[in-house]
Amino acid sequence: MPWVVRDAVRDINRTVGRRWQAIDPLLPDPASLPTGCGAPLVLSGDHGRPAGLGVCVHQRIPADSLNQTWGAADRFTLVPRLAGQDVAAPTDLLLSQWRDHLAAAGAVRGLDTSATVVWPSLDITGIRALLRHGLQPLTVVAARVRPHDTNGPRPRSAPRGAHGVTIRLAGPADEEQVVDLELRLIRYDMHFGGPVWRAATPGLVREEIRVSLARPQTWTWLAERAGRAVGLLVGQPPHEAGWIAGMTCLSPAAYLQTMFVDQQERGTGIGAALVRCLHDRLDADGVAVTLLHHSQVNPLSAPFWYRMGYRPLWTSWEARPASALR
Ligand SMILES: CC(C)(COP(=O)(O)OP(=O)(O)OC[C@H]1O[C@@H](n2cnc3c(N)ncnc32)[C@H](O)[C@@H]1OP(=O)(O)O)[C@@H](O)C(=O)NCCC(=O)NCCS
Repeated sequence: MPWVVRDAVRDINRTVGRRWQAIDPLLPDPASLPTGCGAPLVLSGDHGRPAGLGVCVHQRIPADSLNQTWGAADRFTLVPRLAGQDVAAPTDLLLSQWRDHLAAAGAVRGLDTSATVVWPSLDITGIRALLRHGLQPLTVVAARVRPHDTNGPRPRSAPRGAHGVTIRLAGPADEEQVVDLELRLIRYDMHFGGPVWRAATPGLVREEIRVSLARPQTWTWLAERAGRAVGLLVGQPPHEAGWIAGMTCLSPAAYLQTMFVDQQERGTGIGAALVRCLHDRLDADGVAVTLLHHSQVNPLSAPFWYRMGYRPLWTSWEARPASALR
């Protein structure tokens, strides 16, 4: 990156950081711009200083990675940095430049592609531009801050569940039940346009679960009725959640990876009881914030998560295939 652009990134990041903090105190300082698949997109401003920058990151997700189940195989992500307080017009201009950049990239013509912008959920100023360019709000990263009244270690409450349901930590012997519930969650989530079922999905899910259940300290809870698994929660403690920790300024951050309750059992308190098990452990360990992804259009998840103390932090705006960006 030439020094003029590096200088501009530093200046713009400073303004963006101030703006983000005013909008949402849970947002992090903007990270330095990643290396993109082409030269940075530049919006010219006053006195030769850029008014905004954007980098397009192209990831080709390998077929043997479980990550490919969670979205398109070819992902183009715009990382925007816009100076100024009102970013509506600059967002529009930057998205137009990005559309033209993508139109010139051959890979964007495939069907298994996506174009994504991850936008602070509380920053409403750019939303009309995102919509106008054909992007849809698909996924939310929601955050729950550790309550203030849990200073220091406190006794962990005994697992409580809905009537007749017991909750316990899962171990290697539970592999079949955990895989079954996880695959049902993926199939359920597919209704909302996020995950894509791949030939390798069942095998990769099983592999991941086998490894995680073999750990001495598991973060997987099962809810059971009469010996049958009816609910599943999988968490990642801070030492496994580093991949998402940079999305908030609070630290340490944990991640809630999987949550599923059997359809017949929903609405009876099982989901809340599972979440309580995770929160009790995280709060007692002093974990500052817990993050999770949920589909914006899943009618069950937003009301449930907001009842459990989460709120939107980032929204992923997506066009799929990427050629749908206009
Ligand atoms: C989301 C899900 C895990 C919730 O589990 P659940 O066992 O039905 O939830 P609970 O019965 O424990 O409900 C806990 C609270 O949330 C509320 N709630 C749950 N679902 C709700 C909904 N769809 N609308 C409004 N409130 C809801 C309950 O009323 C309850 O509130 P209360 O504390 O005032 O009584 C379950 O619906 C599910 O498995 N859905 C399919 C998979 C999914 O969406 N997973 C989340 C992906 S991110």
